[in-house]
Amino acid sequence: MAETITITDDRTGKSVTVPIQGNTFPSSAIRELDPSLFMYDPAFLSTASCKSTITDLDGANGILRYRGYPIEQLAEKSTFLEVAYLLLNGELPTAAELDAWVDVVTHHTFIHENMRDRFVDGFHYNAHPMGLFVSAMGALGTFYRDAKDVDDPESRARQSVRLIAKTPTIAAMSYRFSQGLPFNYPDNELSYPANFLDMMWRVGRHYEVDPILERAMDVLFILHADHEQNCGTTAMRVVSSSHADPFSSVAAGAAALYGPLHGGANEAVIRMLKQIGSIENVPAFIDDVKAGKGRLMGFGHRVYKNYDPRATLLKDIAYKVFDVTGKSPLLDIALALEDIALKDSYFVDRKLYPNVDFYSGLIYQALGFPPEMFTVLFAIPRTAGWLAHWQEMMVDKEQKIARPRQWYVGHPERPYVEIDKR
Ligand code: CMC
Repeated sequence: MAETITITDDRTGKSVTVPIQGNTFPSSAIRELDPSLFMYDPAFLSTASCKSTITDLDGANGILRYRGYPIEQLAEKSTFLEVAYLLLNGELPTAAELDAWVDVVTHHTFIHENMRDRFVDGFHYNAHPMGLFVSAMGALGTFYRDAKDVDDPESRARQSVRLIAKTPTIAAMSYRFSQGLPFNYPDNELSYPANFLDMMWRVGRHYEVDPILERAMDVLFILHADHEQNCGTTAMRVVSSSHADPFSSVAAGAAALYGPLHGGANEAVIRMLKQIGSIENVPAFIDDVKAGKGRLMGFGHRVYKNYDPRATLLKDIAYKVFDVTGKSPLLDIALALEDIALKDSYFVDRKLYPNVDFYSGLIYQALGFPPEMFTVLFAIPRTAGWLAHWQEMMVDKEQKIARPRQWYVGHPERPYVEIDKR
């Protein structure tokens, strides 16, 4: 069978035949028929905006792979820093490459004192940590003039190290500031997740990081590191397509992630579970959702029409964390919701399954994080994914500055009306 598609313009009878590769065909075919013709595709539901070798996501079958490696194997065997290396470089590191990578990231965790003294201290005392994080990412770029050298591969690699190393420091600062607590300096003796937990929770001189919680944090970072062309990654790619520096582009990705339909959903899940209050109220809540009074947060996904594999892994981590911290009282409500929703035809027919945010919030809460920090916790590892996409885009000869077109539905030409005649 021919792997082609033929499109006919019925107005002119002209046809064009183009190849189908990787389930896509070049949209330029449409313009061969008529250069003034565009495809109307709100929210890019039917558009592949790039070729990518980073993350393979098969939503129908619930498959997620980074550079070909199944997420389940990475979650079991890898570390976040190794995964970040994999995403950025395309291959798993050798032992020597991993040592060098961990060393360089570990030695770039400090941020300029002006960031803390002048910038972070200038925020309103109850600033949302994610709002602070978004702003701090953009501001951090002003400390590195070479960040603007986006055509230089060495500069790109240097900025990637800086961003991956410094996001946990800024994330912890945004929390400590919101609590009125003194900031903790990074501790280069600790692993990436342990250092983050230490900067978050150390009060006084010593804080012992529980190894189970350290590993849970690392696996959470692995699971959130990339997810192909989602809203935040698309924002990152669109902004960096203008050759903006990567700090500004990461700030754009983080701003997109901030919204409750994207990275903010895990915060919304906890609020929803608290609002439901007890298992007895679950059926009535489900009825409300089915009647269109709000959504079941942490359910549904633009691409997954099956159980999100990250949700399966997170459910498992939740139990391991609860063994250390004690069970969240909200877990039973979440399990009851999942149980009913997975059997209810409203959710089954629409292929709505738990997504990554359904259980992550419960784990973050058990680890001691307030809901306002949840999206920040998502942004730390996603920075590695954003940077991998940025690096890929910068060397992709088919990419240009992003510039979609529109279907203008406003007024046709009309004469200006003098103010006394309106
Ligand atoms: N609860 C109830 N109904 C839902 C839900 C939900 N969570 N999600 C989708 N629907 C319904 C929706 O009302 C629509 O029904 P109908 O066809 O009768 O109008 C149908 O399912 C299709 O929904 P959609 O809004 O067209 O789907 P979408 O692909 O545009 O939205 C989504 C995807 C993730 C924004 C949506 O499922 C949602 O709002 N979920 C809750 C928020 C959430 O958990 N977001 C985290 C996403 S995963 C993390 C990430 O990648 O950032």
